[in-house]
Amino acid sequence: MRKPRRLSPEELAPYQVDLPDASPSRKPLPDAPPPPRIDWSALFGNDHPVEVEVGFGKGLFLVTAGVARPDRNFFGLEIVRKYQLYATNRIAVRQLPNVKTCCADAKRVLKNHIVEGSVATVHVFFPDPWWKTRHKKRLLFTPEFAASVLTVLQVGGHLHFVSDVKDYFEMVTATLATIAGFRVLPPPDANEPVHDMDYLTNFERKFRKEGRPIYRSRYEKA
Ligand SMILES: C[S@@+](CC[C@H](N)C(=O)[O-])C[C@H]1O[C@@H](n2cnc3c(N)ncnc32)[C@H](O)[C@@H]1O
Repeated sequence: MRKPRRLSPEELAPYQVDLPDASPSRKPLPDAPPPPRIDWSALFGNDHPVEVEVGFGKGLFLVTAGVARPDRNFFGLEIVRKYQLYATNRIAVRQLPNVKTCCADAKRVLKNHIVEGSVATVHVFFPDPWWKTRHKKRLLFTPEFAASVLTVLQVGGHLHFVSDVKDYFEMVTATLATIAGFRVLPPPDANEPVHDMDYLTNFERKFRKEGRPIYRSRYEKA
């Protein structure tokens, strides 16, 4: 496949959001005033429902969903800058005004920067399992993160979670079961891909091609 043209920082800028308080390189300051919350209408220039993807990696979901659903806004969070740049390039090449990306720690963004009850869907696809004990603090789906997801969702909003790791999936299922306010929905079906980009994410494509099992769940904020 032909590589897309590398766009300049100026061309990427309209698709990127800077939240210095949640930057992976910035330590939280204990006495800092509360950071400003994101105004979705001002950011996207409309009042369409907002979907947040946590850890978008190379951005396949954001691109596919942004093209397919122009009546929804997509806000992607990714902690690794080089992935943010890669995905934003794909988004900017297609000039998708309904998709924005942010390089930040999603745990901090959900807790400090998103208005309570303002999000229609939170997507978390294939989070890193961080097997080693010394890496446990990097684990995304902690009880605190689950509580933040519930807080940012509007009533009737959805959490969509997918993993290839059975233990991680069961840990998240158990965590969510302890939080009043999440109602379990039937899991979404996997599609039958008709071309090589017809997958939920890059990791989904890799794992399905390897024949690995994939665990899917969906919750609603009651
Ligand atoms: C295993 S990859 C999956 C990428 C993508 N979701 C997919 O399915 O192709 C997990 C991604 O989550 C990102 N990530 C990990 N912790 C994060 C955090 N606290 N905030 C935002 N992104 C995070 C990683 O940098 C990585 O790109």
